[in-house]
Amino acid sequence: MNEHKPGTTVIGLGAMGREIARTLHAAGHATTVWNRTPGRAEELTALGVTETATAVGAIEAGSVAIVTLLTYDTVREVLEPVADRLRGKVIVNLTSGTPDQAREMAAWAEERGIDYLDGGMMAVPQMIGRPGASILYSGPEALFTTWRPVFDLLAESTYFGADPGTASLVDFALLSAMYSMFTGVFHSMAMVAPAGISAAEFAPRVAGWLTAMAGAIPAHAAVIDSGDYTAVTQSVAFNKSAFDLIHRAGRDQGVDTLLIDPIKALLDRRAADGHAADAFESIIEGIKARG
Ligand SMILES: NC(=O)c1ccc[n+]([C@@H]2O[C@H](COP(=O)([O-])OP(=O)(O)OC[C@H]3O[C@@H](n4cnc5c(N)ncnc54)[C@H](OP(=O)(O)O)[C@@H]3O)[C@@H](O)[C@H]2O)c1
Repeated sequence: MNEHKPGTTVIGLGAMGREIARTLHAAGHATTVWNRTPGRAEELTALGVTETATAVGAIEAGSVAIVTLLTYDTVREVLEPVADRLRGKVIVNLTSGTPDQAREMAAWAEERGIDYLDGGMMAVPQMIGRPGASILYSGPEALFTTWRPVFDLLAESTYFGADPGTASLVDFALLSAMYSMFTGVFHSMAMVAPAGISAAEFAPRVAGWLTAMAGAIPAHAAVIDSGDYTAVTQSVAFNKSAFDLIHRAGRDQGVDTLLIDPIKALLDRRAADGHAADAFESIIEGIKARG
């Protein structure tokens, strides 16, 4: 352990918290942990991590406390009763929640004199401390800058500005894209299953296809940011015609079209609203308009 490195605290030893504590300790930070259910720190304490009986005891032991509990309600449940002892402490809450929950939490902390930074983890536990992991932060910039050397041990760190809700917003926007992608993949696997094509057989093909298609995202983004929906290549009408057939093929395979019905509805509505000749990307206007 390096005496020049600040002490760190991890509140919550779920899958994420355990990896974070392990990484901080391995990097030479004296690390103190707390978890509601005892016994989850045994592997860590064997390495030299300190476990405390109370959350506030752990927070008082370190210079910066990273919180990875299940929900924001859980975080409040843990911190609220001891808030008067947290004045002046640095709390970095990486628990997943909505942007408004992050803002409410930040306001709660500010009223109590707690230095609060919010974050969202774009990683699964085994990625913590390894290339590919990313953690998004928002809140006071000075807190991010001061503690960045610690954050950088865990993942690539990105700061999104003073609004404490922005990290959560970007986190959940990315997760929305991810869930749409994975469920889309499950839909495609269900489509080919009646033809005797197993999910494992189909997997490399769909992964390769999606990887190739991801290359088109910047071009779509450029059209959206320009606001100019003059169709250069593919119009709403072109995609509607194609998607009507894709939708029908799914139904013909006996697959529930529940997942892809909304895509068809978006294209149908955009065309019915008089935008059939516009670029495909213009369906984002239909998504925005319905809030
Ligand atoms: N796992 C992932 O891949 C992943 C990825 C990105 C973000 N996240 C987010 O990171 C956060 C932690 O995830 P995780 O995977 O570490 O979750 P987890 O393994 O389910 O652990 C949940 C943690 O919350 C604690 N907890 C739950 N209810 C509590 C309560 N009422 N009072 C005190 N502690 C309570 C649990 O304590 P006990 O041990 O006592 O139950 C445990 O420490 C979540 O917000 C999750 O959405 C997770």
